[in-house]
Amino acid sequence: MIQGYHRNIAGIPPIPHGMGGMHTACATVLSLRYHKATVPTIRVATASASPAVDYTVAIAPGLLRTLYPRLRKLTPGKSPSTFVVTSPAIWALWHKPFLASFPKDKKPAVLFLPAGESHKRLATVESLAQQLACAGADRDSILLAFGGGVVGDVTGFLAAIYMRGIRYVGIPTTLLAQVDSSLGGKTGVNLLAGKNLIGSFHHPLAVFTDIDLLRTLPSAELRSGLQEAIKAGIIYDAKLFRYLEQNTNKIIESKSATQPSLSAKSALRKEQRTPNAKGTDAGAPHLDSGMWDSAALQKVVTASVRVKAEVVAADEKESGLRMILNFGHTVGHAIEAATHYRKLLHGEAVAWGSIAALHLSLNRGRITPEEFARMANLILRYGPIPPFKADPAKLVSLTSADKKKRSGRRAFVLATGIGRTEVVYDVTDAELLAATRAMLTDMRASERVR
Ligand SMILES: NC(=O)c1ccc[n+]([C@@H]2O[C@H](COP(=O)([O-])OP(=O)(O)OC[C@H]3O[C@@H](n4cnc5c(N)ncnc54)[C@H](O)[C@@H]3O)[C@@H](O)[C@H]2O)c1
Ligand SMILES: [Zn+2]
Repeated sequence: MIQGYHRNIAGIPPIPHGMGGMHTACATVLSLRYHKATVPTIRVATASASPAVDYTVAIAPGLLRTLYPRLRKLTPGKSPSTFVVTSPAIWALWHKPFLASFPKDKKPAVLFLPAGESHKRLATVESLAQQLACAGADRDSILLAFGGGVVGDVTGFLAAIYMRGIRYVGIPTTLLAQVDSSLGGKTGVNLLAGKNLIGSFHHPLAVFTDIDLLRTLPSAELRSGLQEAIKAGIIYDAKLFRYLEQNTNKIIESKSATQPSLSAKSALRKEQRTPNAKGTDAGAPHLDSGMWDSAALQKVVTASVRVKAEVVAADEKESGLRMILNFGHTVGHAIEAATHYRKLLHGEAVAWGSIAALHLSLNRGRITPEEFARMANLILRYGPIPPFKADPAKLVSLTSADKKKRSGRRAFVLATGIGRTEVVYDVTDAELLAATRAMLTDMRASERVR
């Protein structure tokens, strides 16, 4: 039912933004040298976690071609056996640069799982574990999770339980995986009864984020991932928010940069392009390197990773600060459930969910109409976000299902300014209904101007 992970948060009050927890944690930007190139590297470390969490996320174009020396640097001494877990389509596109730096006798074995959420299940984990055992993987072996969030979640969970836990490295290939799912240590699979119901916290040994991989990503997937970057700007990083505002054409190709806008009164003005959802250009490879500026996208990815790194470093198990990452997700998850996970990509559902959360923040007087307009317009500018049909009361009841699982308290993340948030527990169904209705009105208005 819910897309997020199950959380052990019941009854624990949120840590105010920017306070608490950070004393025992750090997320710093370092610069490491490999083959003359300087690679921005973000450290994710939490002294208070048990076992302690400490790994780095390197972010740059072209990282894939230097994978082997980077892995060797992580594992001094005897070279461990490595196993890539990926999907056939990703491997077909990228195996050459992936393998380029491996010596002939050190090439990793490759294990496949088919693409798609439906393969994020225990049966896949069992099958992969069986293949690992047959291939002689031992406690020192390292898994390389090469794919989007599905591959990352399955591989991380496989690593968490194979021989009671082995090491893995993340090499995320979707924007969502680069800015979100490859960080934070949540791993797991779905049950028929709901998403992400089986899982474990297991942090990677390192994450190598190669921006070039995004060049083959369908553009709808790219824009969907950008919604998580916008969320990072809204909840934590006003500078990232401004950068996204000022560099839209560098970050998404200008021909798809649609700019419907909401006035301070939430009226839509400009025209929105025909939605593509998963149907039209979602399947078209995004191969033209001139379509977006790699340096601009690298900045966005780096800043978004820094936000998540700082937040999870402060709060590994989501007892407080980490909850702010759920901005837009309460209603977003309800939209995904109401549309049976078929109509919208995750980031697209979060985009509408964020607009609902902004309405609620505006209605409570926590943001000004001008702040509302800037944030809602940025979300829409990185669209088009496909519309959907749902009864607002049904959406509210779906968020209540979430509430039950958290000892009756529904945590809700409000915006309190650009780059600032607050987690509250007293949002009523009536407030949520009003905000959801307002979001649906915005959506219909955006359809009318098309
Ligand atoms: N662990 C976490 O903290 C966390 C956070 C958010 C989401 N998630 C999970 O992530 C999953 C969604 O991840 P996703 O959005 O990355 O989707 P995904 O992994 O399903 O990938 C989307 C599609 O893009 C394709 N693809 C991936 N990389 C590509 C590339 N470079 N070029 C061309 N095609 C490529 C995939 O084969 C797939 O068809 C969900 O299962 C969700 O629950 C986990
Ligand atoms: Zn999300």
